[in-house]
Amino acid sequence: MVLKKELHKGPGPIGIFDSGYGGLTILKEISKQLPQYDYLYLGDNARAPYGTRSFETVYQYTLECVNHLFDKGCHLVILACNTASAKALRNIQQKDLPNIDPNRRVLGVIRPTTELAGTLTKTKHVGVLGTTGTVISNSYPIEIHKFHPDVKVFQEACPMWVPLIENKEFNNEGSNYFIEKNVKALLKQSDKIDTIILGCTHYPLLENKLRQYIPQHIQLVSQGDIVAKGLIDYLKRHPEIESKCIKTGKLEFYTTETPENFSSQAGKFFGKEIVAKHLAL
Ligand code: DGL
Repeated sequence: MVLKKELHKGPGPIGIFDSGYGGLTILKEISKQLPQYDYLYLGDNARAPYGTRSFETVYQYTLECVNHLFDKGCHLVILACNTASAKALRNIQQKDLPNIDPNRRVLGVIRPTTELAGTLTKTKHVGVLGTTGTVISNSYPIEIHKFHPDVKVFQEACPMWVPLIENKEFNNEGSNYFIEKNVKALLKQSDKIDTIILGCTHYPLLENKLRQYIPQHIQLVSQGDIVAKGLIDYLKRHPEIESKCIKTGKLEFYTTETPENFSSQAGKFFGKEIVAKHLAL
C-alpha cells in the first residue's frame, strides 16, 4: 500500500514554476503588483529547455516540480511557462490534484493571455510566437477561439530562441538570423496581423531585437502584466486560497542546476540580483 504524503496545511508562499529563467519575467511583474505575498520560484534549469520535449516528458517533469513546490508549503502554483501550461496543466488539474490534495491549485499563463489578446486586435488577425511544444499543442488557437471565435490565429515555432537566451547568445549578430527568419515566417502568413503574442516567458528579453523586424503598427503582447492582473483577480475571487498565502513579502529562488550559474543569469530576467538555492530532484 502506498501511503499518501502529509502536506503542510498552514499558509505557504505562492509557487512560480518555469523550465528555467523565463518565469522570472512573470514573477517580476507579479511581485511588483502584489508585493505583500511570499513567493517561491523554481526553475528546472537542469532539464531545460522543455520546448522541444514530448508531451509525456513535459508533463512528468512539470508534475515533479509542482509536487516539490507543494512539499515546500505552496497551496497555489503558477506554471509561468507556456510549454508546461500547454502540455501539463490540464492533466495536473484534472488527474493529479484530486489525488494530491483537492484544495491546492495550479494555474497556467495561456488562458489569461488569450482572454485579453482577442480584445486587443482590431483586424482580428493575431500572431503567436512560441516554442515548438506550445505551437504544436494548438493551445493558443483553441483558447483564443473559446473567448473570441471570430479571431484568426497564426503561429510560428521558434525552437532556437530559448537556447540562445539560456546560453546568453541572444544579444549578438548570430541570433538576428533566427529571430528574423521566424518573424518573417509569421508575418508571411497574413498581412493583417496587428497583434503578436510573445507566447514564451523567455521572449520579453528579445523585445528590442524583435522590434527591428516587426513594424511599429503591430503591438507586442508580453505576459507579465497580464498574468499579474489575472492573479489579482483570482485571489479576490478565491478567498479560501488567498488566506493560504503568506504575506511577509519574502522571495526565495530554487534551481535544479547549480545555484551559482542561476544566480549570475537570473538578474537579467528579474531586473535585480538573485541568490538561488539548489533543489535536488
Ligand atoms: N519559458 C518557457 C515557455 O514559456 C519554456 C521554454 C523552454 O523551456 O523551452 O514556454
